[in-house]
Amino acid sequence: MPSTINWTQVQTRPTLMIPGPTELPFPVIQAMNQPSVIQYDRSFDEGVLEPTTLALRDVFQTKSEVIIMPGSGRTALEAGALSIIEPGDRVLVVGAGAFGLLMREIMDRVGADATEFPIEWGARLDVDRLAREAERVRPKAITLVHNETSTGTTYPAAEVAGVARSVGALFMLDTVSSIAGLDVRTDEWGVDLNMTGSQKCLAAPLGMALVSVSPRAWRAMEQRKKKAQSYAYDLLRWRDNWVPVSRGGKIPDGTPRRQPISIPTHLTVALQVAVRLILEEGIANRARRHAIAGGALRAGVAAMGLEMFPDPTIASNTVACIRSPNGVEPAAVVARMREQYGILIGTGLDKIRTSTLRIGTMGITASPHYVLPTLSALEMALRDLGDKGEPGAGVGAAQAAFAEGA
Ligand SMILES: Cc1ncc(COP(=O)(O)O)c(C=O)c1O
Repeated sequence: MPSTINWTQVQTRPTLMIPGPTELPFPVIQAMNQPSVIQYDRSFDEGVLEPTTLALRDVFQTKSEVIIMPGSGRTALEAGALSIIEPGDRVLVVGAGAFGLLMREIMDRVGADATEFPIEWGARLDVDRLAREAERVRPKAITLVHNETSTGTTYPAAEVAGVARSVGALFMLDTVSSIAGLDVRTDEWGVDLNMTGSQKCLAAPLGMALVSVSPRAWRAMEQRKKKAQSYAYDLLRWRDNWVPVSRGGKIPDGTPRRQPISIPTHLTVALQVAVRLILEEGIANRARRHAIAGGALRAGVAAMGLEMFPDPTIASNTVACIRSPNGVEPAAVVARMREQYGILIGTGLDKIRTSTLRIGTMGITASPHYVLPTLSALEMALRDLGDKGEPGAGVGAAQAAFAEGA
């Protein structure tokens, strides 16, 4: 018998277990609770911007420059694409889901001669076949979505970087749902543009786009026949205004950077605190925590008799994409969990919207504190909707997985 009490009545908002934006650590929320400062004030430059961009190098595992600009993941992808690609440049786009298709659309809009390398949604990437295609197309750049948020899959970025290197192509990697949750080795793998957003595993507020740029990528931008068309998002303009001479830019060392466009101070301060928390935890520990939490969530799902959407060998630790049980509408599960149990998960996207559910384990939500109540609410919501499972089976299995992993 479904409960007649609305348990969410006393809550002001649902807990965010969608695959981003995600819950914010309390110190990050507190960091934003302050009056405005002038974005070009020297104290902001020296106390916030500079240390944050430098600390982000450790998160990205790079020695290259990390640019932070107002926007979201898509801003980072578009800034990367329009800065590197000139009309007619050949690009090979690996597409394994909705965000691979997004990259294709962005490439089309910047005038690339894009060839798609389609992968069945949820399936593994055949790296040898990709290498043959790269050999045939001879692209200027290869793009990959590291963690395909629409299908809950992680793709082998290091291997795709190797393919790009073998044909002299730049490697552009979307890490929107992986950075600071999965191990992302920008320099070791050879990622030329590592493009992401602030609101997922970085556990900062939505509103910042981040891109790390390799020396090779800067050279490609310098060698363009024509300047990039965008004023706001041309990364080369950012470098010239942002980076000191000693690091390849045009700002005399020891003087404040200029702002290519005005930088949102509150969001940057929040990002600074988020990055500090990540580095205090340690990148390797953080990836391990996400692996345990993602594994525990999957163990819970399996014990409930539900199936994951993707090939299990590439299941993501930051996003679980779960097949909704037969006859149960994903949208109804999402609504029930939100309205009755105060936890917000997502449906699938595009062609799997009406057959799958998605749950994020990102930043602070990659923990028993969030995963166990989510599984509990999922069990209760499914029961309310008529799916007969064994009460507590999912929660019990996840508890065991957490105990084993910890
Ligand atoms: C893999 C991936 N790429 C790109 C995006 C788009 O990012 P944003 O919504 O921050 O613009 C998302 C958002 O979910 C994503 O998961």
